Amino acid sequence: MTTLWVLFIFLNFDLLLQTGQCTKTSGQVLSITPNTQEQVEILKNVSTQYQTGLWQPVSPHNIKELTKVHLYVPGNSSETVRNLLQRHNITHEVMLPNADEIIKMQMRNDSGDPRSGSTFYYRYHTLEDIYDWINRTAHDYPDKVKAILVGSSYEKRPLYALKLSLNNRPNKKAMWIDCGIHAREWISPAFCLFFVHYSLSFYNINAEMTQILDNMDFYVLPVMNPDGYKYTWTKNRMWRKNRSPQKGTSCIGVDLNRNFDANWCTTGASPDPCTEIYCGPFPESEPESQAVANFLRSHKESIQIYLSIHSYSQMLIIPYSCTEDEAENHSELYEMVKTAADNIKRYYKNIYTYGAGAQIIYLAPGGSDDWAYNLGIKYSFTFELQDRGKYGFLLPPSDIQGACNEALLAVKTIALKVMEKPQAATSSRQAGPAA
Ligand code: ARG
Ligand code: ZN
Repeated sequence: MTTLWVLFIFLNFDLLLQTGQCTKTSGQVLSITPNTQEQVEILKNVSTQYQTGLWQPVSPHNIKELTKVHLYVPGNSSETVRNLLQRHNITHEVMLPNADEIIKMQMRNDSGDPRSGSTFYYRYHTLEDIYDWINRTAHDYPDKVKAILVGSSYEKRPLYALKLSLNNRPNKKAMWIDCGIHAREWISPAFCLFFVHYSLSFYNINAEMTQILDNMDFYVLPVMNPDGYKYTWTKNRMWRKNRSPQKGTSCIGVDLNRNFDANWCTTGASPDPCTEIYCGPFPESEPESQAVANFLRSHKESIQIYLSIHSYSQMLIIPYSCTEDEAENHSELYEMVKTAADNIKRYYKNIYTYGAGAQIIYLAPGGSDDWAYNLGIKYSFTFELQDRGKYGFLLPPSDIQGACNEALLAVKTIALKVMEKPQAATSSRQAGPAA
């Protein structure tokens, strides 16, 4: 009998040890729905403590009743946070139980080997590999691709945009695409790489892409926030802002998509450097946003379309996000994103919402899209790519292909629509002697 008891205790002790190990292992992403204003307040507190990372909405300020909150909780505070939610009866479920494992999986597939075939574009890459890829691409297509240095980051990393110009027609219009303004949105740089590769590979093969590239050049900036991107690979996967230190605080970084001069730092942005939506000390205070703004200012006669790639939430966004006012050509822009979303639904059976930022998300001033629009680039867009609802920023590599194809279809749809337009807006500015 005693032996049985000893055995029993021994077995359970073992079990205890095992569960003890288990709770230590992984960070999680919780999906939480506050049902009352009191629960909203508790959640706002939770999301600013315990080293959690708020994924959705972007700021605690935007947490409201009956709207899902996605919160990354690191392994060591997971129990505390879940107890707290339970104690206050706050509805929640685990959206991603094994976040840390998925983070590892996202990094594992990286390889610097340039000749490892087409799957190169269906993996995530370190910043160093992306710089190598930029050099290689410019080198391999000397007559079609040029790497243009548009500026440098706070930590003095170069900002290269690739100019794709597939034929020598004079006075072509152009489209600008930037990726990776927010560091943790890894699918975004992946799209820029994919897009450049697709353009170079399918020119003269895909009819639509050929038609577009015959009439339009592209400027593609694969990583607008290299310091932040580097940081997500080495220190904190959930980092969003750039990495510039701020006066009078130990908090680091400015939200580059709140740093442009479009109703700068009004409702929807924050003057507090410790928030994720810090607007910076003044508009274009950051070298990264200034570099892009300068480039667009000096090329605004040719650049007809502006596009910024983000994730996640599957949205095609048009101006304005910085005011509830309608853009002057709202219905024209709306028609474009509607057609793009319809195409995505038809070909890929995936649903993208679309419309003016302030309408479909919330006020978010200081964004690059609104600023470019006010500069005179009347076809201005922000895309929010996948995830489809489970992984958030941690979209597995196996979903890169699908996400990129959807975004590509939207780019094609919009480019073709713009090409149909009489080029009144931009060409009138160049009107001198009639040609
Ligand atoms: N999630 C993006 C952000 O918070 C939305 C961008 C939409 N455009 C904008 N100008 N806010 O930056
Ligand atoms: Zn973003």
